[in-house]
Amino acid sequence: CGIVGYAGNHDAKEILLHGLEKLEYRGYDSAGIAVATGEGVQVFKEKGRIAVLRDHVDAAVETTVGIGHTRWATHGVPSKLNAHPHQSTTERFTLVHNGVIENYEGVKREYLPHVTFKSDTDTEVIVQLIEKLVKDGLGVEEAFRKALSTLKGSYAIALLDNHDSDTIYVGKNKSPLLIGVGEGFNVVASDAMAMIAQTNQYVELMDQEIVVLTRDAYQIKTLDGTNVSRAPYTAELDASDIEKGTYPHYMLKEIDEQPFVIRNIIKQYQDANGQLKLDQNIRSAVKEADRIYIVACGTSYHAGLVGKQFLEGIASVPVEVHIASEFVYNMPLLSQKPLFVFISQSGETADSRAVLVEVKRLGHKALTITNVPGSTLSREADHTLNLYAGPEIAVASTKAYTAQIAVLAILAVDTARAKGITLDFDPLQELAIVANAMEALTDQKENIERIAREYLSVTRNCFFIGRAVDFYVGMEGALKLKEISYIQAEGFAGGELKHGTIALIEDGTPVIALATQSHVNLSIRGNVKEVAARGADVCVISTEVTKEEGDRIVLPEVHEYLTPLVSVVPLQLLAYYAALHRDCDVDKPRNLAKSVTVE
Ligand code: G6P
Repeated sequence: CGIVGYAGNHDAKEILLHGLEKLEYRGYDSAGIAVATGEGVQVFKEKGRIAVLRDHVDAAVETTVGIGHTRWATHGVPSKLNAHPHQSTTERFTLVHNGVIENYEGVKREYLPHVTFKSDTDTEVIVQLIEKLVKDGLGVEEAFRKALSTLKGSYAIALLDNHDSDTIYVGKNKSPLLIGVGEGFNVVASDAMAMIAQTNQYVELMDQEIVVLTRDAYQIKTLDGTNVSRAPYTAELDASDIEKGTYPHYMLKEIDEQPFVIRNIIKQYQDANGQLKLDQNIRSAVKEADRIYIVACGTSYHAGLVGKQFLEGIASVPVEVHIASEFVYNMPLLSQKPLFVFISQSGETADSRAVLVEVKRLGHKALTITNVPGSTLSREADHTLNLYAGPEIAVASTKAYTAQIAVLAILAVDTARAKGITLDFDPLQELAIVANAMEALTDQKENIERIAREYLSVTRNCFFIGRAVDFYVGMEGALKLKEISYIQAEGFAGGELKHGTIALIEDGTPVIALATQSHVNLSIRGNVKEVAARGADVCVISTEVTKEEGDRIVLPEVHEYLTPLVSVVPLQLLAYYAALHRDCDVDKPRNLAKSVTVE
């Protein structure tokens, strides 16, 4: 979910709606705004996208203060009723919330037994509790702080009080939230991107802090009421980076940007002599570790699997790769000197953050690899490596995945050098070759579009097979296809087929086979023959394809370690075109959100 708030001199409705549109990648099943007017607070909310909300907001309402929310449902189905803002029984208080209140049932029972709730959300408990505490005699700010002290879980909150149309109360715990500072106005946003059109000056909030904000001032406080002062920082975001230009979809734009991203990474990780450079502290942290634990979710987890190949193969460091949500309660026995590496495009994923908090509590060191400098995971880890991929807006991640792999390759090579291991290749030169190869592939769109149409426009399912690192790339290809075309897709290890999965192959089942690794070439080609013999329609992705194998996508040659960077490009494009042929919403697939800030 995403939240925004504005107190200033201009029309708040438009600024809030525009801000929400920029936050839609965080969830888009319903949305709403609440604005302070001369006659009290007015709420507009609707099920569906911001565009639907926009049509329902009364343009005649005059307002310069308001809050807004775009939702990704956790408690309660997506509906107008469950959409934010939520109001207290007397409608004095109106609130938007991102996060999950874990003890909402307990709070209801203990403090609010006589309140009739209007929605199924955990959020409504917060606003009802604030109203109760004010009725009990507390001032609004005090009630706000007291209510937040009672809650367990995660929240980013903005609150309006009908009796005071100038003030927004803001609170944060675990969920991201920033204050933006301007001349004659102040804003609130889950992400600087939402309000970059207003200001590039932002103030970070720490967990369990509140802010009392008006157009002229803001005061940060702890939950016990102590004032906190903190200087703003400049958000390095270019408003034009977050527009799609002439592209029909962000996803296609971001796929096409990959060669530039790789070139940018080369530039950022190069010294004046063209040699690879990395922060010395990171170099020491990796060198000192006896084992690296990579922790991530979704696409970033898949990049981590490729990273393990690099770090073990190039730098001889043992690596384990874990899904963040499992790691929290299923922690393996740790080595003596572990280093935790968090990979996260957004730097905000709550599952990953929960692990970071726990490993920091245990006293371990952490490095975050992220596309968002200043994000929560970046701030809270000891070290950060930036991806320099530019804002990624499409929900399905593409350029962040390849950027993660490129940065992991750089990290592995730097570690190898620090350990005195001699390498027979120059990583930056090899990455430059990759950038050209990616460009050559994005130029093959017609062929890939045809394959997507023939193989994927009507099928129910699709399998991706590969061995060694190709298996991991296949998993990513399957995830892309699932996410945006809703085709049931799985990535399998070629050798595992015969142990069960091959039972699913029937006449016309699409199988995408990756064959980029010379040491397993014969085996994967054997798998291709096995599935073809059982009726599968096979498309092979490889640097060379023999005649009898049906359709093919031929990849330009790159260093064998780096093939995931090029072999994934046709998989991204296949998913993109499959989604188009199936009339799916490419950039905003159903049920998903780009940045999942709840566990
Ligand atoms: C969400 C997105 C995925 C993404 C995952 C991890 O589920 O839909 O595309 O891979 O979160 O996000 P992160 O920002 O931590 O890389």
